[in-house]
Amino acid sequence: MKYSVKSSNPLNQGTACLAVTVFGDGSLGETAARVDAASGGVVSAAVNRGDIKGKAGDTLVIPAAGDLKCDRLLLLGAGDPGKLDLAATVRIGRAVVSALAKSGAADVSVALDGLTISGRSNADSVAALVEAMEYSAYRFDQLKKEKSTLKLKSVALFCDSRSAAHAASTGVARGRAIAGGVSLARDLGNLPGNICTPTYLAQQARKLQKRLGLKVSVLDENRMKRLGMGSLLSVSRGSREPAKLITMEYQGADKSSAPIVLVGKGLTFDAGGISLKPAAAMDEMKYDMCGGASVIGTMQAVAEMALPINVVGIVPSSENLPDGAANKPGDIVTSMAGKTIEILNTDAEGRLILCDALTYSRRYKPAVVVDVATLTGACMVALGTHPSGLFTADDALAGELVDAGEQSGDRVWRLPLWDDYQEQLDSPFADMANVGGRNGGAITAACFLARFTEELKWAHLDIAGTAWTQGKNKSATGRPVSLLSRFILNRCS
Ligand code: BES
Ligand code: MN
Ligand code: ZN
Repeated sequence: MKYSVKSSNPLNQGTACLAVTVFGDGSLGETAARVDAASGGVVSAAVNRGDIKGKAGDTLVIPAAGDLKCDRLLLLGAGDPGKLDLAATVRIGRAVVSALAKSGAADVSVALDGLTISGRSNADSVAALVEAMEYSAYRFDQLKKEKSTLKLKSVALFCDSRSAAHAASTGVARGRAIAGGVSLARDLGNLPGNICTPTYLAQQARKLQKRLGLKVSVLDENRMKRLGMGSLLSVSRGSREPAKLITMEYQGADKSSAPIVLVGKGLTFDAGGISLKPAAAMDEMKYDMCGGASVIGTMQAVAEMALPINVVGIVPSSENLPDGAANKPGDIVTSMAGKTIEILNTDAEGRLILCDALTYSRRYKPAVVVDVATLTGACMVALGTHPSGLFTADDALAGELVDAGEQSGDRVWRLPLWDDYQEQLDSPFADMANVGGRNGGAITAACFLARFTEELKWAHLDIAGTAWTQGKNKSATGRPVSLLSRFILNRCS
């Protein structure tokens, strides 16, 4: 959608819809009160009739009346006055779009009074609102003949002062950049495995090079073989699609400044391999590249925001299928780090491709490495679908990621990464096994990765429960692009 920021009087604006706030206690936002006066009291009448309660995210569309220049009014519930939090703002932003989705309104003017998150800047508040509107306006219809019918195309945000408008513009730019990264990650996630292959992901990364000047390189299987990536290549051996190792470099600071390195699991379809998954919901394993997609989306957002920092994105990408050449339970492979791995379950393939990508990340001498992966069903069992799982031995880094999660609404919850769990990965035949039994499955997966990140400042995010939603509205969520963008933004200041 298009956005503009204005500091003029929204009542003078000819618009398909003017959105104004009403609060949970029945009181009206400043602009809502002026609209009420100019319309012979249509706003207060609606509130008094009980047609809108004023809870954050409540909406009511009514026809305009009196001297108003708009065609419709959208009343937006904003909760208790002065007590707006981030979650409420997200509900409000999404509600603006969904309330108008079935209408013919092509534009909306939103009066921002009453929509500042308490304790947060105007720019942050507007960025959150824009992100939420974009999230709600997202449609995945590229593979349908009938395209979506969302008429809403432009949003004007009205501020009460020049300085507020300046801050709002900053917020719009940031919100749009992050939302663009989220949408890109959602598109890549929603695309099926027969389209979104490792080669396709590599092509999408290359587009960022053309459009935003990122330095993109794609290693093919021969190059990976020469680097000794025996673990990653063992996974792709069972697939006809060649594996790719995609790297994207964004340089926004001095060359000598150590980069943040993001590593994302790009498993474009995970059938489990010889340890084949059951048929039910196996289609959802097209989402097993969502970690990689979130890294690509974050790289786009960072480049669009032109942040003064260096960031490298690495996406190891492969399929995991059963085949005569596929890994077999009991096979032993040698990773790039030289450590041998006994593959007891070929469905624990994410860690097999990530370990080589993490070893590869060392060449960038990173300030910090964060990997993102739909790694374990066990993480979803442990935490449900609200937070992503966070694992790190570094308390300061954990704090940074937890904070970025709270600030973006894309939250994480820390689980232990104690050495106590390491013995579950012991193997009688190799340096380690790739699975550690049923107990603490998300943790032993993280412990496996920890064996390849010694001497790195490293965190692991398990997004198995957060990367997509199930059910009728099944869709990729684009998480954790928002979290990672905030984490990187915070590191810029
Ligand atoms: N991609 C899956 C994890 C997954 C499963 C994410 C379901 C989201 C929903 C991963 O490759 C996998 O299969 N993990 C196994 C590990 C097990 C064999 C130790 C799992 O979680 O069952
Ligand atoms: Mn698997
Ligand atoms: Zn997987």
